[in-house]
Amino acid sequence: LYMVCDQYSILITGGAGFVGSHLCYLFLKKGFNIISLDSFVNSTYEVSNNIRNLLKYEKVNIQNSFKFIKGDIKDTILLRKIFKEQLDINKPIKGVIHLAGLKSANESFKNPLKYWSNNVCGSINIFKVMEEFNCKIIVFSSSATIYGLTENKIINEKTKIKPINPYGNTKSTIETILNDIYFNSPNSWKIANLRYFNPIGAHPTGMLGENINDTPNNLFPYILQVALKKRNCLNVYGNDWPTKDGTGIRDYIHIMDLAKSHLLSFMNLLNSPPKIINLNIGTGKGTSVLELIRVFEEVNQCEIPWEFKSRRIGDVPICVADNSLCKKVLDWVPKKDIKTMCRDGWKWASSHPNGF
Ligand code: WQD
Repeated sequence: LYMVCDQYSILITGGAGFVGSHLCYLFLKKGFNIISLDSFVNSTYEVSNNIRNLLKYEKVNIQNSFKFIKGDIKDTILLRKIFKEQLDINKPIKGVIHLAGLKSANESFKNPLKYWSNNVCGSINIFKVMEEFNCKIIVFSSSATIYGLTENKIINEKTKIKPINPYGNTKSTIETILNDIYFNSPNSWKIANLRYFNPIGAHPTGMLGENINDTPNNLFPYILQVALKKRNCLNVYGNDWPTKDGTGIRDYIHIMDLAKSHLLSFMNLLNSPPKIINLNIGTGKGTSVLELIRVFEEVNQCEIPWEFKSRRIGDVPICVADNSLCKKVLDWVPKKDIKTMCRDGWKWASSHPNGF
């Protein structure tokens, strides 16, 4: 694997983010040449040191196989420059793991145009430059949010796609664009749409994690801030959902399990004829808000004060994956349980109280 993957490189857009940083680490550990492109709108340059330190700590010598570039996926000139540079050093970009994008369902209601411009126009830019350089392998960071409100308690990939927020609309639109590219180009693209459920946690060493500086939109980083006493109370949005304890149920998946699914998806595409696959990346297990709070308190011996608030716009009661397809296609099973997610997330947050 090392020899083969040293003759090309992989571009990870959004490589400085929560998912992206864990992907850079994992792909570098496996010997790939990685270029990370990130605008740092939701992260900082610091993350590259965290990735390098963790690899050094694990005695992984990455030599000069890691480039960490600040830039925007809407900058076509920069994208072309990155692809050209890799071509000139005989390490052409063979595939793209496309994560860059704005990701708050809640925020997307307030500024839909920012979401459409960043997420969709940015993605079109990437696909155009990929085509120019005959780079036709892509793993796309999609989201379970595209399913919207569904009667299905457990969601499989055939579940109707009906987003209920602008963020979800952008993700489903990008999937549609990729579908059109695949079905309307000569038999050439290899595409995997990974529909994330709820990634949380951190690398077990606590040396990588999610930036928890600004006001988190998501539950887990908010719990971390309350545990750090940066906030004194967690708002629980809604106590009257049609669930066992009235609070929202989600399929939380450990960030390292999610990262592994990207590596396996990329290798699967590399070794397959042209194809397009949609995969739900989740554990198949649901956890309510109150259950997550309880597990976090028990595992980390702390108290998370909370109070009920009214429901949040754009939320659904239950969102849990039927993950049988990704288990079959990737021959992969998510291994880490909710206690491990809580333990690893806290290990990161408590050792980095001010973020990176
Ligand atoms: C989880 C549960 C809330 C915050 C979104 C995106 C999805 C993915 C993950 C990118 C819900 C409740 C939350 C809080 C709360 N993003 N909640 N208090 O909305 O399921 O998914 O983030 O990959 O694409 O759609 O995640 O963590 O925001 O909410 O009670 O302060 O926690 O109502 O039931 P969500 P979330």
